[in-house]
Amino acid sequence: MTLLKPRVLRFESLPSTNTELARLASEGAEEGLSIVADEQTAGRGRLQRTWSSPKGAGLYFSILLRPTIPQDQWPLITFAAALAVADALHEASDIQADIKWPNDLLSGERKICGVLAETIETPAGRAVIVGIGINLTQNAFPAELSNVATSVAAATGRPPEREVILAALLRALTRWYSLLHEPAGPEKIVAAWTNRSSYASDKLVQVNNGNEVWQGLTSGLEPDGALRLKTPTGEVKLVRAGDVCSVRSAD
Ligand code: BTN
Repeated sequence: MTLLKPRVLRFESLPSTNTELARLASEGAEEGLSIVADEQTAGRGRLQRTWSSPKGAGLYFSILLRPTIPQDQWPLITFAAALAVADALHEASDIQADIKWPNDLLSGERKICGVLAETIETPAGRAVIVGIGINLTQNAFPAELSNVATSVAAATGRPPEREVILAALLRALTRWYSLLHEPAGPEKIVAAWTNRSSYASDKLVQVNNGNEVWQGLTSGLEPDGALRLKTPTGEVKLVRAGDVCSVRSAD
């Protein structure tokens, strides 16, 4: 059984917890090494976006993983991470988060957390850095985020308890990552994700993969986590990268 043993390093300020952890991984850091920063000055999001990371307004966290599952199953690591964040938000703050494909956590249809998983080459082999940004408060949120993002404080009406959320997150990551390494674990992760996400099936969405834009109804996940999308012509597209957003139907 794969047992993850997280060990947390804390920083006041970093450009990006993912970048700093990649540096430590290239120097031989062990699986489970984690970084938390109070602020990031160059926080990064998916699809080359920036991740606004003002001091004290978020949990900015990264963990180093050295998975032993076949590499074609590595995309499921981000699904396991999203499930772990959903568990942690529920356990620590009583928030029932939705998951938007592949790994955005939503509360009241607004984004409360994002996950950025990056594969890196290290002298000890290929590894993955999973970066997690949970919005704790909306203090210092840029104006353009106010309609699309929310925070633990806004969802609960209480001051967020960063350390309680972090402790719950470490426990949940350990559970889901162990499950991923068990026989039938990948199938269980896909099933759990499907169960927790309103985006898994019969959701009218628009997908932008950087080259093309498709609209259609979601129709479950492939075993590797690709999203099935049924287009109006009846064709089923497999989405492995890109941005998904919900579309309100006309009726
Ligand atoms: C997304 O675009 O939704 C993913 C955002 C991931 C942000 C986190 S914050 C901690 C870690 N360090 C980074 O630079 N990014 C990730």
